[in-house]
Amino acid sequence: MIQAIKKVNRVYGEIKLPGDKSISHRAVMLSSLAEGKSKVSNLLESADIKSTIECFQKLGGSIEKLGNEYLINGKGYFGLSKPKEKLYAGNSGTTARLISGILAMQKFSSVLTGDQSLSKRPMRRVAEPLRLMGAKINLNQKETLPVEFSYSDNLKAINYELPVASAQVKSAVLLAGIHLDDKSTVIEKIQTRDHTERMLNCEISFYKEQKIISVSQENYPIAKEYVVPSDISSASFFIVLTLLIPGSELMIKDVSLNPTRTGILKVLQNMGGIIEIENVKTIAGEELGDIVVRFSSLKNIEIEKEIIPNIIDEIPILSVAGLFADGEFKINNAEELRHKESDRIKSLCHNYRLLGLEVEEFEDGFSISGDIRNKNVLFESFHDHRIAMAFSILSSIIFDEFQIKDFECVSISNPQFLSQLKSITE
Ligand code: S3P
Repeated sequence: MIQAIKKVNRVYGEIKLPGDKSISHRAVMLSSLAEGKSKVSNLLESADIKSTIECFQKLGGSIEKLGNEYLINGKGYFGLSKPKEKLYAGNSGTTARLISGILAMQKFSSVLTGDQSLSKRPMRRVAEPLRLMGAKINLNQKETLPVEFSYSDNLKAINYELPVASAQVKSAVLLAGIHLDDKSTVIEKIQTRDHTERMLNCEISFYKEQKIISVSQENYPIAKEYVVPSDISSASFFIVLTLLIPGSELMIKDVSLNPTRTGILKVLQNMGGIIEIENVKTIAGEELGDIVVRFSSLKNIEIEKEIIPNIIDEIPILSVAGLFADGEFKINNAEELRHKESDRIKSLCHNYRLLGLEVEEFEDGFSISGDIRNKNVLFESFHDHRIAMAFSILSSIIFDEFQIKDFECVSISNPQFLSQLKSITE
């Protein structure tokens, strides 16, 4: 579906966005593993979360919506049952990587598949540590999905230093580790999002620059009530829009302020963005608060290597802010962007070239400079939700003539994106 985007003259008012995608996945997974009834409120209702829910329903979990809450009745330690059919992770890398840690430890075999895009994304990164734990995992020749898990009677705890800064890989090991008596540790040199270790109450220690996360059966989840804070990655599209349109001011309520996710706020503030945080509170171990943002004049800055994992999902919309900021937008050390729902370096460069900009592509990033020279552009989404939303925001800043191809992919993380955009703009 091709979506035309209308030019916006002002952003104003207040908005509350749906639940954080990363926390929603984990709340469904941990509740399904725990014994008894858990309640999840403000769960994100999007295609990716539906993938996680359907996988756990196939594994015998009871997950239903009652009013505004999800009720999840888990079967407890080793209570999952062998699925009658293949498990399907859809477009969701988080579902595929995290559930791998769980499936690898079960006493039954299973097969995990995904859509075309997910079937191209690397799975060796999770298979490797899980095999070190004794799991039997069969990948196809390209080391992607479909993945086969079979029963292993030789499972053991490991100490694993993450070779790639990935919260998904870390989480796969931690979720496997909760099935073993002995303590496993994951060592992280560059901090990635920490929702899994928080939600599992893992023991954390630091040695020099390294974070050491320990996990064992003692961290196996128990049934509880989860309140999912709103998604900062979804909020960042509206934050950038507000910063870029003169006369705009917006409040985004109850947004997740987990310090491993707020890099986008720091970078935009350092670029000159007026972004304030109000009403900070902590609910269920996660910080949240209201973000107030105003139109600001931005300048491009150097983006440090260490902050990249913290802003990895926000780089598409950050580059839109960079395009309208003074100076050249340039990002490096972001090779991981090539392994997302699309090769995001390629996708972004392609669309910026359509505008007639000067674009340089590097293995680990890209730069954009020059002036927008073309109107009537049809942007490619590459079926990637964050690309579709980033170029929708860009379109709404300039002309009425821009369109986005295969726009329906926004339903992966935010099916209500367009109506939210309408509700805060004129
Ligand atoms: C996620 C981790 C990140 C992120 C993804 C969600 C998670 O991936 O890009 O959207 O929920 O753990 P990596 O950890 O592979 O970088």
